[in-house]
Order: sequence, then C-alpha cells, then structure tokens
Amino acid sequence: MFSRNNNILKVLPIITVVLLNVLNAQELHKKAAIEDRVNDLIVRMTLSEKIGQMQQSQMRGNKDNLRNAVRNGLIGSFLNAGDLEDKLEFQKIAVEESRLGIPLIYGRDVIHGYKTVFPIPLGQAATWHPELVETAASVAAAEASEAGIHWTFAPMVDISRDPRWGRIAESCGEDPLLASKMGAAMVRGFQGKSLADQNTIAACAKHYAGYGAAESGKDYNTTWIPERLLRDVYLVPFKGCVDAGTATLMSAFNDLNGIPASGNEFTLKTVLRDEWNFNGYVVSDWASITEMIAHGFAADEYEAAFKAAKSGVNMEMVTRSYANNLEKLVEDRKISEEWIDELVKGILRIKFKLGLFDNPFRLVTDNPETLSDKFRETAKKISVESLVLLQNNNMLPLADNIKTLAVIGPLADDAESQLGTWVPDGNPEDAVTPLAALREYAGNKINVLYSRGMETTRTKSKDGFDDAVETAERADAVIMFCGEDALLSGESHSRAYINLPGVQTDLIKAVARTGKPIALIIMAGRPLTFGEIKDDVNSILFAWHPGIMGGPAVVDVLFGKASPSGKLPVSFPRTVGQVPIYYSHKNTGRPPSEDQLGIEPGTPEDPKGFVSYFLDVDYTPAYPFGYGLSYTDFEYSDLKLSKHEIKMGDSLEISVTVSNTGSYAGEEVVQLYVRDLVGSVTRPVKELKSFKRINLLPGESKEVKFVLNTDDLKFWDINMNYTAEPGDFKLWVGGSSDAELETMFELE
Ligand code: GLC
Repeated sequence: MFSRNNNILKVLPIITVVLLNVLNAQELHKKAAIEDRVNDLIVRMTLSEKIGQMQQSQMRGNKDNLRNAVRNGLIGSFLNAGDLEDKLEFQKIAVEESRLGIPLIYGRDVIHGYKTVFPIPLGQAATWHPELVETAASVAAAEASEAGIHWTFAPMVDISRDPRWGRIAESCGEDPLLASKMGAAMVRGFQGKSLADQNTIAACAKHYAGYGAAESGKDYNTTWIPERLLRDVYLVPFKGCVDAGTATLMSAFNDLNGIPASGNEFTLKTVLRDEWNFNGYVVSDWASITEMIAHGFAADEYEAAFKAAKSGVNMEMVTRSYANNLEKLVEDRKISEEWIDELVKGILRIKFKLGLFDNPFRLVTDNPETLSDKFRETAKKISVESLVLLQNNNMLPLADNIKTLAVIGPLADDAESQLGTWVPDGNPEDAVTPLAALREYAGNKINVLYSRGMETTRTKSKDGFDDAVETAERADAVIMFCGEDALLSGESHSRAYINLPGVQTDLIKAVARTGKPIALIIMAGRPLTFGEIKDDVNSILFAWHPGIMGGPAVVDVLFGKASPSGKLPVSFPRTVGQVPIYYSHKNTGRPPSEDQLGIEPGTPEDPKGFVSYFLDVDYTPAYPFGYGLSYTDFEYSDLKLSKHEIKMGDSLEISVTVSNTGSYAGEEVVQLYVRDLVGSVTRPVKELKSFKRINLLPGESKEVKFVLNTDDLKFWDINMNYTAEPGDFKLWVGGSSDAELETMFELE
C-alpha cells in the first residue's frame, strides 16, 4: 500500500494524465463516431436527397405538398415551424417515411429570449457581463428546446457604429472585443456543454459579414470595408463565435465590396473554411441567394445558386434556387458532386451533434421551466445590469420620504415596446411594466399618479399635455418614460433622425416647467439624441428595451435596491450629423484639440482652426463608449505595470487600485485600453483590450489586475500580416473609454 503522502502525490500526475487521455479519447471517439456516421450516410444518399438537405422552408402554404416533400427527402429544415404538433408530425414523416430517415432541423429567431424575454442584445452588451449573458442564452435555449426548436438564428454580432441602422438593437455594439466576448458567451449559453443535451440549441453567428456597415445606416445597403478593416474589426466577433464552437453562421444580404456576402468566396471559403477551419454549416439569410439577381451579381437563379453554392452557403432559406438548379449545375459540371457532399456533410454533422438521429423529437417534458420564477429572476438581473445612468443631478436613488410620485410618458405602461424587436414568441402580457412595478412597490406607502401624456412615442398631438402637467403638479417627484416604440427598431427600421420621436421633447419641457424634479427613463433600440432636454431633467437612465422584467429592474434602481452599473456598448452622438462616431477612430493628420470643444449644437461659430471638427457641434460624443455612472463614485489610482519594456512573446501585468469613495455599494466595469502610437499603418487612438466587473462597498478598495500579451497587440500590418510591431504604447485604465489614468510601455 502507498504510505500516505509522498507516493500518492508522485502518482497523482500520472493518474491525471491517464484520466485526461481517457476523456480526450472519449471526446475524439465521439467526434470520430460522428464523422464515421456522416461519411457512412452521405455515400448512401442520392443527389436529390443531398440537395433536399440544403433546402430550408417555411411551414406555410399547402401542408400536403410539404408532407410529400419531406417524405421524398426534398426538405431538410423548417424555420417558423408552427406549434409542437406540427413539428412532431413532420419529424415523424421525415424519420419514419423518408427513404433514409434523416431528421429535420427546426430553426427560429430566438434572439434575446424565447418566452422569458431579456433586454435586446445591445442592452445585454451594456452589462459588460459575459457570464450573465451566457446564463440568459442558456435560459432561452431551455425554453426554445421545450418548444421543439433545435436551432436559433443568433447571436447577431455585426459591428454597429451607425445608430440610424435599426438593427443596431440586435447587435453587441461598436467594439470588436466586447462584441466578440458577448457573441461567444451567447454561443456557449445556447449550445451548453454538448449539443446533444436536450436543453441546448445550435447557435448561428450572423450576419456574415459586414452587414452593420451599411452606407448611411440604411438597412440592406451597400458596404465598403477594406480587407484590413474587415479583419481588424468586422470579422473579429465572428471569429470569436467560431472559436466558441458555433454550429452555424448566416450569410448576409449586403453587397460587400462589390461581392454580395452570400456569394462571397473570400469570406465564406478563404476565411471561414481555409483559415478558421469551420466545419458546421452556413444558412443564407432569407432570400439573400436569389437577391444576388437584384444586386446584379447573378443573371438568374441558376447563376445565383452557382455562386452561392460555390462560395460555401450550405443551406438556402425559403427560396428554392438550390432545389431548382443544383442538379443541373452538377450535370453541367459547374459544381462537382464532391463539393455538394462537403456542403451536405456540414449539415449532417450538426444534426448528428444535436443527437437528432438518435433522439429526433428531443423533447424536454419532465420539468418544463418556461417562464419559471428562476428564469424571471435572471431576466430581472440582466435588465438591472443593462441600465446605464447617463446623468444624475442629486435625484436618484429616490428619497424615502416621497409621498406622491407622478409617472408620465408613453412608455411607462407599454408592455409591447419594452420587449423590443425580434420577439416572435414573447407575450406582452408576461411583461411587468414600470407602472405596474411602481404600483406594486409603492403599495400604500407612496401615492402613484399616472398620465400617459402621449398615446405612443410617435404621437404628434399635445392633447395629453394638460393632464400630464396637472399630474406632475400634484406630485413630489416625476418619473418620465420616453424613447422609441419597439416597432421603430429592428430590421428595415432605419431612421434618418435619431431624436425623441413625436412631441416627446415638448412633453418633457412642459412637465419640467412645473419645477418638479424629473427622472427620465429612455427606452429605445438605438442611441438617441436628446441633448435639448438634458438640462430640463435631473436624471437620465437609459434602459434600451429591457424585456419582460424591465419594470421591476427600473424600480430596483430608482429606489436604490441596486446601483446602476451599465456601460455604453456604443457611442451616443450629440446629433445625427456626427455619425459615424466611435471611440476607436483614427487620429487623422489634423486632430482637434480643446480649442474646438464646447461648441453649442447647431450654432455655427467663428472657425476655430484647420483641424478635423464641426463648426456647429462639439466633436466629442454626447456620451462615449464605455460610459455609465453609478450612485457611488469610483476612484482609480496606483496604475502599475510589471515592466515598461516587453519583448515579443512576453506578457505584461497591469494593476490598478479602484476605490469606492461614495456612500453606496456599486459595481464597476474596469476597462483597459491601449494605443499603438506608430505603426506600419495608422492605428486607432484607443482599443479596448480587457475589462472586469468588480463590486465595492462604500469605502472599499480593490486591486484589479490584467495580463496583456503581445498577441493582444496584433493587427493586420501594411503587408497584410497579422502581427504586433515594436514601438511605444499608451495604456489607460478606467470606467469609460475617455479614461484619463494612463501610462506607457515599449514593445521591443
Ligand atoms: C431575416 C433576418 C435574419 C433572420 C431571418 C429569419 O430577414 O435578416 O436575421 O434570422 O430573416 O427570420
């Protein structure tokens, strides 16, 4: 027998290695098993059955025709596949009546929750809390799989730097690192430890690639993205999702540098397959394949199918150019059957990974958790952390001695809007609005008065103003809920003006004339411009579209049960004329200085020098990326580096002390930025390289540490090599991208 300590310690490493090898072997065995099963199946399939797997249809129209198509192996997937009975019926036909019994895969837009609707993704990004975002995605996966869904068309990781674009709501903002962390967290949350687990669903990183760079923010518009910018910025979050193991991607609508994204060999084959070794599958976005005809990139469906298939789009969503042309493209020797096999194997691989061949109904029946209290608690927590306090002139948190509170505005009780865009399965009646939550919290302690003021955020009539003003007159304090209806946000909902729609600005000013203290909560699916009212209200809390628990979340923050901790994932312009405006911009040869600061919006002043600025607005954003206030104050000090000269391959330790110098407990997102001062190409003035959330009690200090390595300093250089270059770097740490605590280091 071993004498206690030393001999066991000696063999422990060996046991560990053996165990790891066994686990690894099991993993490898599973992978090999799947590859064997894929290869075994593909050789038994006819060309027609292979092309059938590449067809995704809607469960719409003549059901008998659809049944026959499935029976004949001509459809491999449905999106929006109706209720559970439909899904079970059609799956039964596929696995029991088709020749090879290949199961269907059901896809759905589960973008920010299924029934338990979370804040819109832009709001989730404002938490800067990947672990919490991952939990929310796992809740969405659990609920969606209970409904027989196998695959979600999320996360959307298009870098978005233009608030005119309605789909910025679905994005994770302007920064590649933050979007990459958030997208990867959502992929992990959706897919869990194994896709074969019944409460997980396949993820789909979209829209590949460059969709968020639509010219003028108009949806579906042209995008021009030089390869260096594509690789340094727009592709980064997709790489993050592929590295996190996303099962699928969705090819985008947009014309990318003259080659539509759904027929773009460079992105779909050279980058995605050859460089990133992706082996799942790509589904087209809706009709993006046949839309290549409208783009003028294909003369007809035959050519559109050719270009999409050749580039590497595995599955066609709703249109039928593959079904109608691929067989002939093979006969005409334009596409080889070997390449078709590769495309089909990507689809079969994911169906095997999902366990659909062994468990085609994959039903979670034992303990349905949809809309459980636990899931609602997650929704409330992520909603609280998404709230960004933009301004607070001594009003929040609300004092305990408030007797009468006036709740005013079109979004105080609009359950539909608070859910936000892309909630095909969310129910407004499951939402708790701010008004309902305030009344619940107030009980008989506080008298809550309510006046809508305007029917919707787009209302042009001021008929409701008198009632709103009278209501405010009777209160000690006023909480206003304004912003943007959810139907103004999302796909094909770009806006050329990004101010508060309707007569909301007038409503806020009318109520402000009562002299009552006002806390303004803005709900919207994008950054808005509202500088003209910031001096009329005490506090401004930006709530995005906060999901079903938005009401209770806002109430917790209003009354100080939680201190706001959200940080902006996107810059807020002062006026739409500044767009695009983002923090990691280039310096130009004529950067502006303090001399050009403080220009009143809209009042052209005397020219102030030949530099890059506007005559009629301050060149800085209204609120910068990474910005967000707390009820307490955080002080940064003792920024230290382990060394000030590093060599290639070295790592650099950074430490900073963060102190809570205020009187409330609070969470702070500590952000680390660097600037590469000189490069073989020009470099951004700042780049986010890391961030950490910490909580601090009043008076508490913590030392926060980061580790950077030279890989973190890489970019695509003048010769298009991905490399870090020697030279001087600035480094900042703080609670926003305009952090001032800085130091320097040199990369030798
Ligand atoms: C839409 C969207 C895409 C969505 C798909 C299916 O056009 O662009 O994001 O997943 O169609 O609904």
